[in-house]
Parts: sequence; structure tokens; C-alpha cells
Amino acid sequence: MRALSVLFPAFCHGLREPDPEFQREAEALENLGIPWHVVNISALNSGDLASAFRYFGEAPLSPMIYRGWILHPEEFTALHEALLQRGCQLLTSPAAYRCALLFPEFFPAIADYSFPAVWITGKDPNQAIKIARQLGSGPYFIKDFAKSAKEIWPNGCVATNEQELPTAIQALVEYRGDRFEGGIVIRPLIRLRCLDQNPFGGKIFEEYRLFFFQGRLISKTAYDRVSGDAAALPDYGFLSQRIHSTFFSADVVMTESGQPYLLKAGDGGSSALPPYASPMDFYKAILNVLAPA
Ligand SMILES: Nc1ncnc2c1ncn2[C@@H]1O[C@H](COP(=O)(O)OP(=O)(O)O)[C@@H](O)[C@H]1O
Ligand SMILES: [Mg+2]
Repeated sequence: MRALSVLFPAFCHGLREPDPEFQREAEALENLGIPWHVVNISALNSGDLASAFRYFGEAPLSPMIYRGWILHPEEFTALHEALLQRGCQLLTSPAAYRCALLFPEFFPAIADYSFPAVWITGKDPNQAIKIARQLGSGPYFIKDFAKSAKEIWPNGCVATNEQELPTAIQALVEYRGDRFEGGIVIRPLIRLRCLDQNPFGGKIFEEYRLFFFQGRLISKTAYDRVSGDAAALPDYGFLSQRIHSTFFSADVVMTESGQPYLLKAGDGGSSALPPYASPMDFYKAILNVLAPA
């Protein structure tokens, strides 16, 4: 039996293929002889399981990991159950998925290596203002329990003071639309070490993404196309005892003054591979954990 199989979201214009974002990963899997499958995520989320699994193919006997878009926890649970009905076992349980995805779930596990955060469930601006005062007078950075609106930065991300929080929250909520998750996280806006200007505007900061699989660090690279020294980061191996998921990511930011902070955790299956993380190395590392060479 093969040690692993992988499930990707299907491409909306070619439902038998993985979405192009996962093409490099699919090629690496083919080279390694690991089978991959596709699921039509929009059909899954609308409850149409027949369409969702039309091109899934024969169920693999090996344990499966999902590599795809961030799903709401309920959507992930539905995926997990639909796969079980087809005889497939996703390695990440719905409970583990929540633990790594949702800010209030993972923050206590990283708080002593991070900087302050407060949050509210839902999106009431008055409640947000009240709780933000615990952090001082701003400026603040905001996001929802799973993602930010960094693509429209500073809108939906930065509030200079509490008066600006309602507008920022509105922009975040509008931008996230039906992908909005849970509530609003508010943090102090911190000064990150800038490595380069982005040619399309904005800055590239010194940030890293780590992946852990079954308790082992399997990938540690820069988050963007310009890198600091990933080897100089502290050892975050303790995270595998604290974050109760078999497959999760952890992001690290470097401040202007050279202080590394854990920024957040994430579900390993729905965290993008950074540009310098070779899919081949990534899946080889997973295979090696499952069946050490
Ligand atoms: N408190 C903060 N202060 C300053 N910049 C931040 C803060 N939190 C996040 N950022 C910046 O915003 C980016 C997006 O935040 P992140 O939490 O990673 O959301 P997303 O899941 O949308 O990537 C980070 O990569 C970092 O550059
Ligand atoms: Mg991020």
C-alpha cells in the first residue's frame, strides 16, 4: 500500500485537474509516485456530493491529506465525512483542523512567543473598540479568525486609532464576504523588518513559514521571494506538543529591531507553499516521516 494520497481542489475550468495553483505539487507527486485526487469544492460546499466527487476516481487505501483552499470548519467536516463514506481517511481530523485554523484556538499555544492579541466573536464595531482599548490607543492591525484582507492593505487591515476601527472592520468584512471566519482579531500594528520593495507596490517583510507533520518540522523557508536567514530562527519544535494537529503551519515575523515572533498557526493542508519551498522536498519530507528511509 502506498503511504499517502493527496486531495486537491479541482480546476473550475477543467474539473479533472487540480487547480493550477497546485500544479507544481501535482507534478512532484507524480514524480514520487504518490496518487492525487480532485474534489470540486464549490459543489461540495453547496451540498452536491455527486458533482463534488464526479472525477475523484477510485478511493485510495492510503491515508489522505488535503492540500487546497481554506475551508470553513463546517465545510472541512463535511469533506471529512464525505471522504469517510467513500472509504478514505483524511489524516487531519475536523477537531485538529479547527485547532490550527482558528485564531482563538491556537493563540494560547503561541502567546508566549508572540505579541498581544484580543478578539471578539462576530463583527460588532462597538465591541471591537471596547476590547481594542486593552492594547492601548493604536495603531491596530485587524483580521478575521482565519485570514486578513492584506490584498487591499491598508484598507481592511490597519486602523490608526479606535475611531478608524469601524471603517476598517467594514472593509475587512466586505472583502472576506462569505469566507469571513468567526470574528475579529485585533493586534498592535508592529514594525516589521523590510527586505525589499514589491514591484507591484507594498513591501516585502522578513517572514517565514514552517510546516509540521506528525510532530516533525518538514519545511522552513522564507514566506516570500526575498529571504532572511531561516537557519537563524529559534527552534519552534515545541509547537508540535502544543498545537493539536497532525499537519499544521506556523508563520514567523521579524521586527525591525530583530525580534522574531510567532505570528500565527494555520492548517497544514490549507497553507500555501511559499515560493522557495520545493514541492518535491515537501512531499519527500512527508514520506520520510510516514516511512523513515
Ligand atoms: N500585527 C501586525 N502588525 C504589522 N503587520 C502585520 C501584523 N499582522 C500581520 N501583519 C502583516 O500582514 C500580513 C498578513 O497577515 P496574516 O496574519 O499572515 O494574514 P493572512 O492569513 O491573510 O496572510 C503578514 O504577512 C504581515 O506582513
Ligand atoms: Mg499570511
